[in-house]
Amino acid sequence: MTYQITVTGEDIKFECDADETVLDAAERAGYSIPYSCRKGVCSSCEGGITVGTAAVRGQGTCSGQVDGVFLCQARPRTDLEIAPKSIKKIEPVSRKVFDAKVRKIEQPTPDVSVISLRFPNGGRSVFLAGQYLSVQMTDGDSRNYSMANPPHKNDGVELHIRHVPGGKFSETILTNLEKGSILSVELPFGTFTLNEEAQTKAILIATGTGFAPIKSIVEDQIKQNSTRALHLYWGGNTETDIYMQTLPQKWADKYDWFSFTPVLSDPAGDWQGRTGFVHKAVQEDYSDMPNLEVYACGAPMMISAAQEDFCGDSKLKEEAFYSDAFVPSGELTEEKTSLETIKQPTI
Ligand SMILES: Cc1cc2nc3c(=O)[nH]c(=O)nc-3n(C[C@H](O)[C@H](O)[C@H](O)COP(=O)(O)OP(=O)(O)OC[C@H]3O[C@@H](n4cnc5c(N)ncnc54)[C@H](O)[C@@H]3O)c2cc1C
Ligand code: FES
Repeated sequence: MTYQITVTGEDIKFECDADETVLDAAERAGYSIPYSCRKGVCSSCEGGITVGTAAVRGQGTCSGQVDGVFLCQARPRTDLEIAPKSIKKIEPVSRKVFDAKVRKIEQPTPDVSVISLRFPNGGRSVFLAGQYLSVQMTDGDSRNYSMANPPHKNDGVELHIRHVPGGKFSETILTNLEKGSILSVELPFGTFTLNEEAQTKAILIATGTGFAPIKSIVEDQIKQNSTRALHLYWGGNTETDIYMQTLPQKWADKYDWFSFTPVLSDPAGDWQGRTGFVHKAVQEDYSDMPNLEVYACGAPMMISAAQEDFCGDSKLKEEAFYSDAFVPSGELTEEKTSLETIKQPTI
């Protein structure tokens, strides 16, 4: 069964199969709705259903008028009119699956692995700086990891993976990987990409391995000879969380459009740099943000605190805050069936 999806206030119409999500159908038709995890956890894809009924995994049956619906989990049960946060025309999304071979594994600190994968048979991928891939596991489950390499280095990918204690992928599978191991990956996904239309200064904020997509973004800007002003704040508890500190320091020494501020919340006694929460350090330096863009990646708590404080006290425009929260990206095990879950925090 196929249903018609229309968009409130827009001349946009596309078809969606009953077993397809609204987000997937929009992409298939060449429209981009903001999203991050695609698992019903991060809430980036939240939008309204104005008319019609959808089955929404984790939220139950939603009938219009209802807000806060996860469009990445919504499957139509009637024709729908939806009200996403934003929607724009893109090339229809084309993704590839590769059986990629592990070329190198490095461990800059005990908690982080940097993995280089090479695509087979001269395969190349097309992706945008800041996007992520999905690692497919043999039991059908998957995990998301951001590409740390820039798009022009497209014969493989570099991933920065933080070890989560007890983690199915980041501990169990990762510790058994070695040079030559094969990982099935699908890419590209994600909307955490630099807004090319803006030339205003961009504040980049990372915690831990949230540095991965930011590395891709900055290396892409370097490749394009861009001079757009970027200021990176990289936060962690201790210095080991900022596991590649010399790289952004090198960029800052070389390019006058790039600045770097590492921030530690629990530093050792000899730390000379900034301390405290990373987003608070940004606010100390930029108390007024109406003319900035912010790109925040990593810990979900940092991202929600930054969004609230920047868009509140510091007057950042809502649409100028871009983020990828590294929420757990395993399959949802708990089916929530009540509309009461809508608008409730899910992490
Ligand atoms: C869009 C996106 C991009 C991502 N990119 C990266 C990346 O570049 N690098 C990276 O290291 N991670 C990234 N992640 C997180 C990653 O996808 C996994 O969720 C993470 O590696 C944990 O997977 P796992 O199988 O090891 O642990 P799981 O088996 O999924 O989880 C084990 C336990 O740890 C908890 N847990 C899972 N993740 C976290 C967490 N982040 N913090 C605290 N507790 C957690 C779970 O709730 C569970 O109880 C990204 C997530 C998203 C949504
Ligand atoms: S993209 Fe839908 S909840 Fe994360």
